[in-house]
Amino acid sequence: MAINTLVIASHNAGKVKEIAALLAPFSFEVISASALNIIEPEETGSTFAQNAVLKAEHCRDASGHAALADDSGLEVTALNGDPGLYSARWAGPDHDFAMAMQRIEDELNATAKGEIVDRRANFICALALAIPGEKTQVFEGRIDGALVWPMRGTRGFGYDPVFQPLGFEETFGQMDQTKKHAMSHRASAFEKLLAAKPWA
Ligand code: IMP
Repeated sequence: MAINTLVIASHNAGKVKEIAALLAPFSFEVISASALNIIEPEETGSTFAQNAVLKAEHCRDASGHAALADDSGLEVTALNGDPGLYSARWAGPDHDFAMAMQRIEDELNATAKGEIVDRRANFICALALAIPGEKTQVFEGRIDGALVWPMRGTRGFGYDPVFQPLGFEETFGQMDQTKKHAMSHRASAFEKLLAAKPWA
């Protein structure tokens, strides 16, 4: 189906910016849910995919346009995947990611028990595309890396200053954002979305 307008079903300015950059090559108009005053539904799903579908379909129904939602998070191996689905919630109502990153570091150190800390972590992104009259499609991406401490860099958003992707010296918070956008979990989910040619 041809899409004229695509609503990004997110109120997270960092995500909207990254998704808008990924959509820049396309000719449709891109607007954010906040610009349309659409309130985000509660994230009651038990997987990233379920939450992405919930947000995309809510936004499609409220706007009448195609909607793209992202549900993503940081999974820390030694913390059994936490904060995971609760990545945004660990930062509290004030979106205090310095506090959330400190909590991860504290919990990680508590797992050490005199041994070397397992610092592996990964980001996950589920993208859901809800087009009026069509079945919602979901695409997932992932990037593996390690957590660094202290945090490094002031670019990006959320947990970027502590996440160093595998094979790189810089954290996402230090990296040129064009470089991050080309390799992130969101970029890899997006690549799968484009391969499905949903708006061809
Ligand atoms: P939600 O998908 O809106 O529930 O929020 C996901 C949370 O995961 C965000 O608020 C960020 O804290 C974190 N997150 C997701 N993607 C990234 C990223 O690319 N960099 C840093 N943090 C991220």
